[in-house]
Amino acid sequence: MEQEKINHCDTIIFIYPVFWTEAPAKLVGWFDRVWTYGFAYGNRSMKKLDKAYVICIAGRSLSHLQEHGHLQSMKSVMLEDRIFDRAKSKELIVLDSMTKFNEEVRRLNWDKHLHTVYQLGQSL
Ligand SMILES: Cc1cc2nc3c(=O)[nH]c(=O)nc-3n(C[C@H](O)[C@H](O)[C@H](O)COP(=O)(O)O)c2cc1C
Repeated sequence: MEQEKINHCDTIIFIYPVFWTEAPAKLVGWFDRVWTYGFAYGNRSMKKLDKAYVICIAGRSLSHLQEHGHLQSMKSVMLEDRIFDRAKSKELIVLDSMTKFNEEVRRLNWDKHLHTVYQLGQSL
């Protein structure tokens, strides 16, 4: 069961493609079913995790997401609401410009993002 698995973890990592500034519906539904009353809120039985990472892949550039307030929305929902104080440290990492509409831009950012994720893996 998901809740038991979480209570045996120190770190949780969410990895997803950004869909309309949110997580895909399947992951949103996962929070509805797993982050339940009595586990994640109310009289909580969820352990406080050491670390939470949100790694999301976006078609847009980071500057576009910043300029339009999308990055702030993503941080508000994922870090301030869903993770909140359920982890001692939390971070949102955006692997940006992974657009299908410009293969060159996508390729240019590919190695940089692989390096970022590799470094994160090494630090865990
Ligand atoms: C339904 C849908 C909604 C999307 N919404 C956004 C969005 O709001 N912001 C963004 O930067 N990218 C958006 N994208 C682009 C995806 O995040 C991008 O295509 C994906 O991360 C690349 O992963 P893939 O190569 O596995 O498709 C959207 C893509 C789809 C299919």
